[in-house]
Amino acid sequence: MLEFRQLVKTYPGKRALDHMSFSVPAGEVFGFLGPNGAGKTTAMRSIFGLVELDSGEVLYQQKAIGPAERQRFGYMPEERGLYPKMTVLDHLVYLARLHEVPAAEAKRRALALVEKLEISGGPSAKIESLSLGNSQRAQVAAALIHQPEVLVLDEPFSSLDPLSIDIVKGMLEDYALQGATVLFSSHQLELVEDFCRSVAIANQGRIVLSGRVDSLTESERLLVVNVREDPAGNYLEGVNGISRVGSDGGGQRIEVQDEGAARQVLEAAMKAGTVMRFDHVRRSLVEVFRQAVGAADGQQGGA
Ligand SMILES: Nc1ncnc2c1ncn2[C@@H]1O[C@H](COP(=O)(O)OP(=O)(O)OP(=O)(O)O)[C@@H](O)[C@H]1O
Ligand SMILES: [Mg+2]
Repeated sequence: MLEFRQLVKTYPGKRALDHMSFSVPAGEVFGFLGPNGAGKTTAMRSIFGLVELDSGEVLYQQKAIGPAERQRFGYMPEERGLYPKMTVLDHLVYLARLHEVPAAEAKRRALALVEKLEISGGPSAKIESLSLGNSQRAQVAAALIHQPEVLVLDEPFSSLDPLSIDIVKGMLEDYALQGATVLFSSHQLELVEDFCRSVAIANQGRIVLSGRVDSLTESERLLVVNVREDPAGNYLEGVNGISRVGSDGGGQRIEVQDEGAARQVLEAAMKAGTVMRFDHVRRSLVEVFRQAVGAADGQQGGA
């Protein structure tokens, strides 16, 4: 388990981390979310000693993280730093050797990663010749080449096409299943929603919400209702205790105050015509995110 404990980091005029705490269990892929400037990159960099914290600490298996632990960690930084003149193969082998992987094994792993990630141009392509998405795949390979116990990726999916997203997702999932701790940041919430078991949402240097995606998105108060004769939901006009939160698959998405309001919605729908759909549904992770971040901002504004 990787544990962020009360991290504080202040830059001149800016508190980037404000007592940030959360834990990432081993054996699953964990999503780290938050709006721009929330402190995700700063928190991730602190694992590798790249940020000097004012206070707080990051623990791995309940111990402080030092150089020996970091040798067993892998990091894909936000700024993508591979040497442009090297070939993909040489680069990966070089990084593996830094982590004391024997030469033959390093080459074997590098070739396997290039193939698995379908890096176009293959192992002999120069880094500088790669397209954005392909160089990002090479970055993923670079973070994985020494088979780290803890893998930290800063927006690994940001410039990938849907097919490469699937490849990288598959790799991270397999990797976590082998027992590794995998933490990544992302703004692609739809991807995160069906990929991660758990997430933490940061805002203004703090964690505002964390937990299992299935519990965070659970909702007893969200309905989708579709009446064939009135898909726009005009029949909802007189119903109290509800708010309309958009449309969904041809029906209306409605937040109800309580079960009584839900019953009233059903009665109004039945009067209005043929009820094609009346479902309790989950909130999307995007909705959970908006509410968590919006609510925290509201508190700040009111203070
Ligand atoms: N070296 C630095 N000097 C000054 N301020 C910094 C520095 N690094 C980060 N910050 C500030 O700290 C805050 C958190 O930044 P950070 O990069 O961690 O956010 P983030 O969550 O990764 O955002 P994004 O989603 O945009 O990548 C921001 O307000 C940022 O401007
Ligand atoms: Mg960042």
